[in-house]
Amino acid sequence: MIYEVIISTMNEDGSSHVAPMGVSRKADFVVLKPFKPSKTLENILTQKTAVMNIVTDVRVFAGVVTGRSNFNLVALPCDKGFFLKDALSYLTLSLAEIHDDEIRSTLYMNKVDVFHLSSFKGFNRAQAAIIEASVLMSRLDLLSEDKIKQEIKYLEIAISKTAGRKEIQAWEWLMEKYENHCREKEKKLNC
Ligand SMILES: Cc1cc2nc3c(=O)[nH]c(=O)nc-3n(C[C@H](O)[C@H](O)[C@H](O)COP(=O)(O)O)c2cc1C
Repeated sequence: MIYEVIISTMNEDGSSHVAPMGVSRKADFVVLKPFKPSKTLENILTQKTAVMNIVTDVRVFAGVVTGRSNFNLVALPCDKGFFLKDALSYLTLSLAEIHDDEIRSTLYMNKVDVFHLSSFKGFNRAQAAIIEASVLMSRLDLLSEDKIKQEIKYLEIAISKTAGRKEIQAWEWLMEKYENHCREKEKKLNC
């Protein structure tokens, strides 16, 4: 089973890096599979640590995919990294083992500490739709126009029926990215 979370890591200059990632569990490990090249991978290999943020504010997923980086992060003591202020919970992780191949690395991370900040309020279809749309927007150059249009049309149903303010904002960011992509594509075709 794969859970979509936000991994925050520390860059070499002490600044933060935030990336959505699918993680799984194996025995007591949290398993990350970053594709190469990846800043998250680079940072984990250097720092040997990461923070796994469990969030329902899906603007973080949509924000990263649309090039935003102004997330509300809190620094952990002793340069241990950063967590998202609005996370439901976060886990501090330390690198235990790496299995490497050319395309992606598999990182086995130990759970160091778990912190609970807020309770889970229940499933929301618009939040799930934003995560799906974020994946879609990160693969615009790999998918056909028909497939993208069809998926947007379907995901829009959950947005129109169940979204709150945060989900609507995330959807607007994603659709703005899609419109820019269409404009660029049209421009290329006319050249
Ligand atoms: C829901 C979601 C899940 C993702 N899961 C992964 C993943 O498991 N591995 C990965 O390499 N990228 C994943 N991505 C894409 C990365 O978040 C994105 O490429 C990011 O910029 C990572 O690269 P970086 O470490 O260089 O920032 C995912 C994106 C989304 C929206």
